[in-house]
Amino acid sequence: MSDASSFLPERDEFMKNIEKRARERYIPIISPEVGQFLKVLIRATRPKRILEIGTAIGYSTIWMARAAGRGVEVVTIEIDEERAFEARENFEFYGLREQINLKIGDALEIIPYLRREFDLVFIDAAKGQYINYLDPLMEIIPPGGVIVADNVLYRGYVQQEGPVKHKRRTMVNNLKEYIDIVTHHHLLDTSIIPIGDGIALSVKKNDREVEPGL
Ligand SMILES: C[S@@+](CC[C@H](N)C(=O)[O-])C[C@H]1O[C@@H](n2cnc3c(N)ncnc32)[C@H](O)[C@@H]1O
Repeated sequence: MSDASSFLPERDEFMKNIEKRARERYIPIISPEVGQFLKVLIRATRPKRILEIGTAIGYSTIWMARAAGRGVEVVTIEIDEERAFEARENFEFYGLREQINLKIGDALEIIPYLRREFDLVFIDAAKGQYINYLDPLMEIIPPGGVIVADNVLYRGYVQQEGPVKHKRRTMVNNLKEYIDIVTHHHLLDTSIIPIGDGIALSVKKNDREVEPGL
């Protein structure tokens, strides 16, 4: 299989240091090539407001906020307080505290209260829950808005033929269901992209595009 991991994008020393800290403590963060993908996607689509579900220590948030530029608000949600505090310190380093609105709590409870539209949503929290985010997210994404979900191929287990180990079964089944829903959703066009741990890139259709075959 071909993949993009040998084309590592440039990162400064502080970003490399976040990668190292995450690695040492087994905190899962996006790979640099996914960071670069998000950067290019943001530069191409120019979202006015970005939402992230799953901040961890802020690595992907920093990629997105820097790609989007100062005028673009990034709302990011993290359930783990300690990680959120560390993320805040990392945002501080780049002077991003004003641009990034970090919310601590369960995304499922917070999303219905956001009451604003987001042109780009990055889902990178508990893999088993992606399906639960979809309906509330469809309420706050305008036509043309984009949903990026990370880890949808889950180290190849999602495409694996034959039985999946018990401990991974629920997660794999939930990810398969997410892929199935977003690839057949009448309001979404979706592409599954095999970079990093697999990305589902979906765009919300407008009224004209909802017609069958378009
Ligand atoms: C894969 S990590 C995020 C990595 C981060 N996006 C990055 O690439 O730098 C997933 C994070 O989602 C958080 N999380 C899990 N369930 C959540 C929920 N229901 N609401 C908010 N955050 C959640 C976890 O605590 C964890 O820090």
